[in-house]
Amino acid sequence: MLPKTTLWPMSPHTEGKHLVLRRYLDAWLPILGSRFGRILFIDGFAGPGAYVGGEEGSPLVALRALAEHTARGMITAETVFVFIEKDLKRAHHLRGLISDLPFKLPRNCTIEVISGAFDETLTEVLDHVEAQKSGLAPSFVMVDPFGVSDTPMSVIRRLLANRRSEVYITFMYDAISRFSNTPEFAPHLDGLFGCDSWREGIDIEDSRESKRFYYDLYEAQLKAAGAENVVRFELYEGKRLVYAVFFGTQHWMGADRMKQAIWRVCSFGDFAFRGTRSPQGSLLLSAPDYGALQDALRREFCGKGWVSVASLEEFVGSDRTDFHCGHLKKNGLKPMEESGALEADNETRKKRYTYPEGTLVRFL
Ligand SMILES: C[S@@+](CC[C@H](N)C(=O)[O-])C[C@H]1O[C@@H](n2cnc3c(N)ncnc32)[C@H](O)[C@@H]1O
Repeated sequence: MLPKTTLWPMSPHTEGKHLVLRRYLDAWLPILGSRFGRILFIDGFAGPGAYVGGEEGSPLVALRALAEHTARGMITAETVFVFIEKDLKRAHHLRGLISDLPFKLPRNCTIEVISGAFDETLTEVLDHVEAQKSGLAPSFVMVDPFGVSDTPMSVIRRLLANRRSEVYITFMYDAISRFSNTPEFAPHLDGLFGCDSWREGIDIEDSRESKRFYYDLYEAQLKAAGAENVVRFELYEGKRLVYAVFFGTQHWMGADRMKQAIWRVCSFGDFAFRGTRSPQGSLLLSAPDYGALQDALRREFCGKGWVSVASLEEFVGSDRTDFHCGHLKKNGLKPMEESGALEADNETRKKRYTYPEGTLVRFL
């Protein structure tokens, strides 16, 4: 049931979406904010900015990330926040919160709340940017609808046509699998996926296979739309999958930082947030399996001679593995060298079992 009131209670899974968002912005803000003159955070389905229990909504999470950033001095770019919200009362509530924030923002930050629909507003912005031939400033675009009908792939494609835009999209798998056979739903799914191949999923009975089919199709469509790397994680309430969040970026480093953010919130490496009401679900999971990282490295680089640590980082950080650069040396290279599965060129490093920039290694 969609909430009809201006504010609604926050579900446990929403916390996971916000925690990952915050962790990612903690990385994104200084990386992009130190290199560009202007950066843009767009929240396409902003909501009222708060929940009935007083918890902060995504616009406040994003603003707070800037206000409280420990490296705020590095973020020299003008930081522009655009919050789009269709419901007038929710937009009004958000404006009220922004006019009296409990934290202080830097001067070179601007905030705009637009009462409008995501696809129309973004289309206007992108038309304007194209007319100016200026290109969109590096952007992080959060797309967090209640359903599947308002996030057409055509808009996502236009966003991703800009080299430094990234999308963080709520993907309502549950609604898709339940309603894919309902004729009124078909045009919405055509729009969501940007193709009609989703129909091939209707007859898949096995729920795991069905989920995999829709996930793979959405990922493939995001890639066709311009995302070179796609990373996703799932949000559960108890055992029920509520939805997944798909992140698309053109740069392997974006995928790496997003995976770091997800690993910090979902520390078992299962890319699933299970909500605070069900800790026992997480306790049943075992420790992360770094053997999978070592296998991936072996598969990719064995027999290819000497390779630089930089190439290994790019591989591990990209969406081709579930691991991030922070795992590479400690959980990949060092145990592999200790077991004799890897050799390092000692001319390129000073100390055993260390892998500073420039180190060459080969997999045996
Ligand atoms: C899931 S809630 C957003 C929650 C918010 N992102 C957060 O994490 O705190 C979706 C919001 O989108 C708004 N909405 C619905 N359709 C919309 C549309 N087409 N364009 C923009 N906002 C829309 C709803 O009024 C609702 O406030």
